[in-house]
Amino acid sequence: MAKLIFGGLEENVVTREEFPLDKAQQAMKGETIAVIGYGVQGPGQALNLRDNGFNVIVGQRRDSKTWDKAVADGWVPGETLFPIEEAARRGTIIQYLLSDAAQIALWPTIKPHLTAGKALYFSHGFGITYKERTGIVPPKDIDVILIAPKGSGTSLRRMFLAGKGLNSSYAIFQDATGRAHERVVALGIGVGSGYLFETTFKKEVYSDLTGERGTLMGAIQGIFAAQYDHEGAPLASWAPFRASSRLSTTCCAAAAIAPLKHSTKPWRN
Ligand SMILES: NC(=O)c1ccc[n+]([C@@H]2O[C@H](COP(=O)([O-])OP(=O)(O)OC[C@H]3O[C@@H](n4cnc5c(N)ncnc54)[C@H](OP(=O)(O)O)[C@@H]3O)[C@@H](O)[C@H]2O)c1
Repeated sequence: MAKLIFGGLEENVVTREEFPLDKAQQAMKGETIAVIGYGVQGPGQALNLRDNGFNVIVGQRRDSKTWDKAVADGWVPGETLFPIEEAARRGTIIQYLLSDAAQIALWPTIKPHLTAGKALYFSHGFGITYKERTGIVPPKDIDVILIAPKGSGTSLRRMFLAGKGLNSSYAIFQDATGRAHERVVALGIGVGSGYLFETTFKKEVYSDLTGERGTLMGAIQGIFAAQYDHEGAPLASWAPFRASSRLSTTCCAAAAIAPLKHSTKPWRN
C-alpha cells in the first residue's frame, strides 16, 4: 500500500497499479453485487461495475420512473433488475445506495437478507455512524464497508467513460469474513475509483458534514446569498469579494453555488 504525505500526515493510499482490475475481478469471483437504488450514485457505480466485468444486479422500486431509467440503461427485469427486496435476497454484496433517508426507512426490509458472510456497502458514513438514531445496526456476521467517491455518480460515470478514475475514500466498519479489505478495495476499483484513500466511517461523515454540507452548501453559499439579498444583484454582490484577491477562490465557489439558492434541484446531482 502506498503512503502519501498530506499536510504532514501520512495517508494509506491504494492505487490501480498495485490493485489492477483483473485482481479486483478475481476477488469478486462468485459474488453477486446488488446495487440498491438507482438515483445518482446507483447508476454511476452499477454501470461502471458492469462495464468492468463484474456480476451486478440492480434493486429499484418498481412503481417509479427510475425503474424505467434502469431499463433504458440496459438492466433487464427479472434478470439483472429486481424490486429492492428481491435484489437484496440475491446479492452477496449489498450496495446500499438509496437516499440516506430511504436507507433508514427500508432497513427493516433489507436486514433479513443480510445473512452470514454477506457484505453491506455504503457510500456515506451517515447510517452507521449515527446507528443509534438511524436504527441501521448490522448483524455481527457480515462485513460492513464503504466506498465514497469524491464526486457525484454522474462524474464517476463521465470520468470512467473518458478512461479516468475519480478518487474515493474507503473504510471498513466490520470485518466478519476476514475478506473485508479485499472486498472493499476490489469494489473501489470496480466502481471506477482512481486513488483509494483509507478513512473511517466517522471521519467520512464528519468531513462530509463539515466540508460539503456545512462549508460548501451552508457557510459559503449563505455568505454569498446574504450579500445577494442585501445588494439585490449578482454583480453588486460580487464586488466586495472581488476587492480581495485572497478571497477569489471562495468567491468562485460561491458564485458557482449561488444559483442553487433559487433552484429546487438538489446540490448532489
Ligand atoms: N449524490 C452523490 O453524488 C453522492 C456522492 C457521494 C456519496 N453519496 C451517497 O450515496 C448514497 C446514495 O445517494 P444518491 O444521491 O445516489 O441517492 P438518491 O439519488 O437520493 O437516491 C435515490 C434512490 O433512492 C430511492 N428511494 C428514495 N426514497 C425511497 C423510498 N421511500 N423507498 C424506496 N426507494 C426510495 C430512489 O427511488 P425513486 O427514484 O423511485 O424515488 C432512488 O433509487 C447516499 O448514502 C449518499 O449520501 C451520494
